[in-house]
Order: sequence, then C-alpha cells, then structure tokens
Amino acid sequence: MTQKVLVLPGDGIGVEIVAEAVKVIGVLNKEFGLSIELEEGLVGGSAYDAKGHPLPEETLVQAKAADSILLGAVGGYQWEKLDIAVRPEKGLLGLRSNLSLFSNLRPAILYPQLADASTLKADVVSGLDLMIVRELTGGIYFGQPRGVRTLDNGERQGYNTYIYSESEIERIGRSAFDIAMKRDKRVCSVDKANVLECTELWREVMTTLAAEYPEVELSHMYVDNAAMQLVRAPKQFDVMVTGNMFGDILSDCAAMLTGSIGMLPSASLDANGKGMYEPIHGSAPDIAGKGVANPLATILSVAMMLRYSFNLAEPADKIESAVNSVLDQGLRTADIHSQGMQEVGTAQMGDAVVAALQAQAS
Ligand code: IPM
Ligand code: MG
Repeated sequence: MTQKVLVLPGDGIGVEIVAEAVKVIGVLNKEFGLSIELEEGLVGGSAYDAKGHPLPEETLVQAKAADSILLGAVGGYQWEKLDIAVRPEKGLLGLRSNLSLFSNLRPAILYPQLADASTLKADVVSGLDLMIVRELTGGIYFGQPRGVRTLDNGERQGYNTYIYSESEIERIGRSAFDIAMKRDKRVCSVDKANVLECTELWREVMTTLAAEYPEVELSHMYVDNAAMQLVRAPKQFDVMVTGNMFGDILSDCAAMLTGSIGMLPSASLDANGKGMYEPIHGSAPDIAGKGVANPLATILSVAMMLRYSFNLAEPADKIESAVNSVLDQGLRTADIHSQGMQEVGTAQMGDAVVAALQAQAS
C-alpha cells in the first residue's frame, strides 16, 4: 500500500531538518519495502512570501488529500510585524483546525546517553518517559469572542475566551486513556478547576470517563502544581492530559527535562488516525541556514508517523534504534553536545542515522 505524505518544511531550520527526515524516508522505501510517496508544499512565512498567506488554499487541498503530513517549523523575525491573521503561526493553527487534529501527543523521553545534557540532576530525570496529551483544536486558542476592543473611555481592552464543550473534553480524554492502556495505565488530568468553571467541567468529564477505563488510575492536578511537579519529580507521571494552552506551556517544560527540545517529536491526530508530525521545537531563526540544527526530532517524528498513522511498528522501531545507535557512537549536534563527544552538523547527523538504518537492513 502506498502512503501519501505531504512534506511542509516551513521556515528557518525547518528546511534543513526536514531534508534529513526525507533521506530517512528514502531508506525506508529502498531498503525496507515501504512505499511512501512524498509531495512538497508551502506553509508559514515562506508561504506568505510566495502566496500572500501562511496557509494557502493549495496547501490545504494537498493536506486534505495526503495520508499524513510531515512538518518542519514555522516563523521567523522577518514576519513578526505582520498582522496576527497572516503570521506564520496561523499556518500551523489553520492546519490543526481545518484537519481536526485535536489530539496532540508530545512524549518526553530521556535518552540515557543524554542524561548530562539536562539542566536537572541526572537522578531526577534518568529513565524519564512521559507522554503529554494536549488538546489542540479548542480552548483559548480558538475560543470566540476574541480580539482587542476600545472601551467608551478610549482605553483598549484585549480579550480571549477559554471554552470547551463536553464532547471536546471527552474525545481528548479518550485519547489519553487509550494511550495509557498501552503504557503504565496512569492518567493525570491537569486543570485549574479551583478558579476556572471551564476546567471544572473538564475535571467532571474526565472523572465520568474514567469509569469506562477501570484499569487506568486517574488523578487530577492544578496546572501550577503540575508545572512545579514536572521539575521537582517528573517521573511520577505516565500520561498527562490537558487543554490547549496549558499543554503548550507544560510540554515545553517537559521537553527541557530531557536536555534538548531538539530531540522530541510530536504527533497531532484526528479521529481516524490521520496525523501531522513535527518536532516540538520551533524554526530557530538564530541558527537557520547554518547547518547546525538537530534533525533527530524530525527523524523521530517520522517514526511516530509510521507507528500512529500507518501502523508500521517495526520500521518505526528501526528508526528509533538508529537514533540510539548514533547517540551511542558519540555523535552530537551543538544543542546536545557535551565534553568528549563528537560535534556534527545537521547533514552529518542525518547521514549517520541513514547509515545506522541501512546497517539494520543488511
Ligand atoms: C507549539 C507552538 C505553537 C503553539 C505556536 C507556534 C503557534 O508553540 O506547537 O507548541 O502555541 O501551539
Ligand atoms: Mg509551544
């Protein structure tokens, strides 16, 4: 069966890291009998420059027709002054909402080889393996009404709406419980139920849903405490489930526990398992074009795509073990470099993964 994948490099380092992931897909096709067909499209600032919009109609058509999407990153200094409606980030948000990619999986795994790269003590983070399940198409990111209005006294007032319906909470809850069933069977639901009615409802729906998953242990935590617990004792968590904005914040925090945001992939899934896969990190305009960015998060995003959208666990395992093998070899991009290791650039790192993958074919 042929799988059609839309490749959206986006902006900044997105272009460089996606090129390495594409090399890896080439090996999968050539050596492992997969049949992944690639098509490229425009999104973000580069799409704005070429077409006047961060999510051109053509891209949306391509995205809807594809079986899955591989995205690099969007954004850059040159687009920061644009109206918010056409900023690069709107390309990403538009893809998420137009494709109903409501379930965002953000694993935070510490590779033992990188224990020293974390700013936290090794014993706090070693063995860390947690999954953040972030609601991605609702909450305050998309709630209406929103805007900036001028009051009668001439003062301007900004406002956004934090809103979740029961069905939205329930479906993201199901994602989290289903994933927990394949892991350690513990879900921690993060809210601010002591202050926000919307998340009081969130807590109630999660509690009701838990009755359908008797094997899973559900706990609740306020978001401020969750942020604290993530840096105090992150290994207490298995699966965390939360809304769009809290998930945005907590997933950056969780990523840093692992030493580098350059290592972490993510999946954004719809109800049928179609997904958009991207590294958690951004477009890093400060290092764009220098060939020093870490391509491993994007390469690991390909592994997630195989696993979650195409049900191809075996080649996904192979990619992950190829990444382990290059880390074992001591190869490090600048973001994960430490003394005694060999510093390599983006393409060298990609080539090393390709070689490690090819070694598993023969
Ligand atoms: C993320 C990013 C995005 C978000 C931005 C780029 C719109 O921070 O994917 O976490 O806030 O969701
Ligand atoms: Mg973010």
